[in-house]
Amino acid sequence: MATVVHPPGGAPAVKTGRLRAWINKRLPVEEFIANQLTGYYAPKNFNIWYFFGSLALLVLVIQLLTGIFLTMFYKPGEATAFDSVEFIMREVEWGWLIRYMHSTGASFFFIVVYLHMFRALLYGSYKAPRELLWIIGMLVYLALMAEAFFGYVLPWGNMSFWGAQVIVNLFGTIPVIGPGLVEWIRGDYGIADATLNRFFALHVVAVPLALLLLVMLHLVALRRTGSNNPDGIEIKEKLGPDGKPLDGIPFHPYYTVKDVVGVGVFLVFYAIVVFFVPEFGGLFLETPNFEPANPMSTPEHIAPVWYFTPYYAILRAVPDQRLGALLMLLSVLAFLFLPWLDRSKVKSVRYRGWMFRTALTVFAISFVALGYLGLQPAEGVYVVLARIFTVLYFAFFLLMPIYTRLDPVKPVPERVTYHAHA
Ligand code: HEM
Repeated sequence: MATVVHPPGGAPAVKTGRLRAWINKRLPVEEFIANQLTGYYAPKNFNIWYFFGSLALLVLVIQLLTGIFLTMFYKPGEATAFDSVEFIMREVEWGWLIRYMHSTGASFFFIVVYLHMFRALLYGSYKAPRELLWIIGMLVYLALMAEAFFGYVLPWGNMSFWGAQVIVNLFGTIPVIGPGLVEWIRGDYGIADATLNRFFALHVVAVPLALLLLVMLHLVALRRTGSNNPDGIEIKEKLGPDGKPLDGIPFHPYYTVKDVVGVGVFLVFYAIVVFFVPEFGGLFLETPNFEPANPMSTPEHIAPVWYFTPYYAILRAVPDQRLGALLMLLSVLAFLFLPWLDRSKVKSVRYRGWMFRTALTVFAISFVALGYLGLQPAEGVYVVLARIFTVLYFAFFLLMPIYTRLDPVKPVPERVTYHAHA
């Protein structure tokens, strides 16, 4: 039966039922909602750690939208880039807001993604059957790092220039092809106009496309296995008479509503930074980048933005540049192997023993400490500490097959533990 809706103002009546049927015959909108939202059962015991996936999607959208508007005024090119960003900040109406939303968004992207990844470490979400979901997530992370790096070069400030110099030169440490590769990446004998233009193309077209594709694949892989949960129990293994997981609840409305709460809290923090502390003490927007690129003047301390500094500290902890670059690469790629390094029978930290708990705590402390050390000059006690934390960082991965096997784990319950609020 078609429902007839009478809009105010005497406009013609709309037959929503027929329109819906017409659309659904041509595009499976309702089928999609039924399969993916109301009919998709997620574990009922999600906690706040499960906010960060939907928040990462939100930040992705914010970055794409603000990026489109920035591109309308930004002018790539050695002679124009820096001034066009100043123009956006001073002359373009609301340009300052769009730019601060984009620069703050970059840092918030990494905050959200790091918490999202840490959740996976806490609850063993990388373990079987979610290995591919984890690997695709890691590819998203690598694409995100590339996107942030290219974006950082675009304002053509002095740190953009020197940061690009350091990072591109790292490719020079590859034996035989290194020097030629560096020249090919730069498109010139130094970081120059050609480099800036190709980084612009990569930042606004190539990498965002790759990111979108990878995020889609990430979600498809998630739907195949279903979400893990804070107990690390597979809810698909306990089905009710209706064939639905006994410990599952429909994603919509329960988790759509929960995610909206997360979005609200997130937007409060995001707005505080955008409106009151967009530079965030030089962490989100670095002071040397308020000066135009100058090949004749190196900033006093060259340091990347905070989200790369743990890896940067590892690079500088090693005196030999080639070995440092290799260790830095391994420190990122090590995450890819977690599903096979972890030999524990249980997934969630709730049922793991003291060994895994200690290892994860030491690893988290090392990651944050390296992040701090990467922001400091590479001298004296800072280098010594960076070496200690680099060893602890790698010990987490290298010793994992041993301590996860010896760890005195607790028995995992049959059903997820969840106590509804009174
Ligand atoms: C743009 C970046 C990303 C987006 C938009 C995204 C999106 C999502 C969403 C919506 C979920 C389901 C909700 C949730 O579990 O929080 C999810 C789950 C997951 N993601 Fe991501 N993700 C991103 C990056 C990553 C990265 C970098 C990794 C790891 C390297 C990762 C690993 C995982 C894992 C293991 C799960 C399943 C967790 C579980 O069920 O316990 N994701 N992701």
